Amino acid sequence: MFKNFWYAVEFADDVVAGKPMKVKLLGQQLVLYRKGSDNSVVAMSDLCVHRGAALSDGELKGDCVVCPYHGWEYEPDGAVSKIPAHPDKGIPRKARVDSYPTLEKYGFVWVFMGDLPEEERPPIPDWSLIEDTVNFRAVRGSFLWKSNYERILENGVDVAHTPFVHGGVFGNREKPEVPDYAVEETEWSCKISVELHPPKSKGLWGLINPNKQDLANRPPVKVSNTWWLPNMILLEIDTPMGPMKIFDVNVPIDEETTLVKFVALRGFFKGAWADSDAKRRVFKVLYEDQAIVDAVRPELLPFDLSAELHVKSDYNATLYRRRRQELIDMGWSVEGNTIVGEGPARVEARVIPSPARKLVPELASAWNFKEVRSRQILEGRAHPDMTTAEREELDAEAAAASK
Ligand code: FES
Ligand SMILES: [Fe+2]
Repeated sequence: MFKNFWYAVEFADDVVAGKPMKVKLLGQQLVLYRKGSDNSVVAMSDLCVHRGAALSDGELKGDCVVCPYHGWEYEPDGAVSKIPAHPDKGIPRKARVDSYPTLEKYGFVWVFMGDLPEEERPPIPDWSLIEDTVNFRAVRGSFLWKSNYERILENGVDVAHTPFVHGGVFGNREKPEVPDYAVEETEWSCKISVELHPPKSKGLWGLINPNKQDLANRPPVKVSNTWWLPNMILLEIDTPMGPMKIFDVNVPIDEETTLVKFVALRGFFKGAWADSDAKRRVFKVLYEDQAIVDAVRPELLPFDLSAELHVKSDYNATLYRRRRQELIDMGWSVEGNTIVGEGPARVEARVIPSPARKLVPELASAWNFKEVRSRQILEGRAHPDMTTAEREELDAEAAAASK
């Protein structure tokens, strides 16, 4: 799982005013809420620095979220502005949590999970078609998988599985060959386009599909699959009735659990009456994929390219694996952001550093969850009998060395 990307975490209109919401991604729990002043969305670490209560179980007060345990009030930037038990005392500098940049686009709330400054952040793909309500009708949905998001992403852009997993729906067992496909690559994405021979349409679609010929005489259908790092997919099918485009984000809740959120556009049957049929078709395909992917072993994508056998039609998946190896080499894996406690009752949590950690150097010592200390513990280099002064000295040295 990778930090330093924009993640679509929720449908924007599901984040309602006046109510904090719990969201988990990359193994870290966040609280999402809308500010009272301008309705914009705040995303911050859900772990109160006082005694670890979940802020998302608290209440909103103006632009702040109030911890349900002892009522500490957190500002949108993650800093505590009120400790009710001691209203006359100053607020400790350490009374703060990480708060992440957010924006609303294409009907989703996107959260930037990382500490890169704005100009270095990878882009959000252009999904403006989602907003084209003249040419397309949209349905959307969510689907929970008990499998790793990278396995799901690879499945989503895999052309060769459709005849076998989706035979009769849009795959055709009589035509399993994958012809040579066109590839368009960018730094963050890969799109492949291929001509396929789907089976005859059934149900509603069968009524209007003009291509009712035998397989040998039916014109092929153009299909494109695109992935964007780290977890996004677009499936485009030029059906004889009109275009279909399914945008989906595979939200990694943790390594083994993924929440898929999709927006499916169709350029035909644009009335609301066909929505449930369109939704049913997407869910049927998702259930078929899930039956296979949830049982894939190993559950996580192997790191070594040679660990599984690749053939020509897997080009886009091998490119994804190569790019993810580069991200690991860049230090973008969230593994390094596991926060571990010392002592016999070892506790683990994940806190991904937010941009303020780099932007505001004066706060360097104010973060309760220290990356450096956790790394030392994980590497067995921490010494439980050290004094606080010795510990801080070591932290400072390590922090300086990692700059
Ligand atoms: S645990 Fe949040 S205020 Fe005490
Ligand atoms: Fe599939």
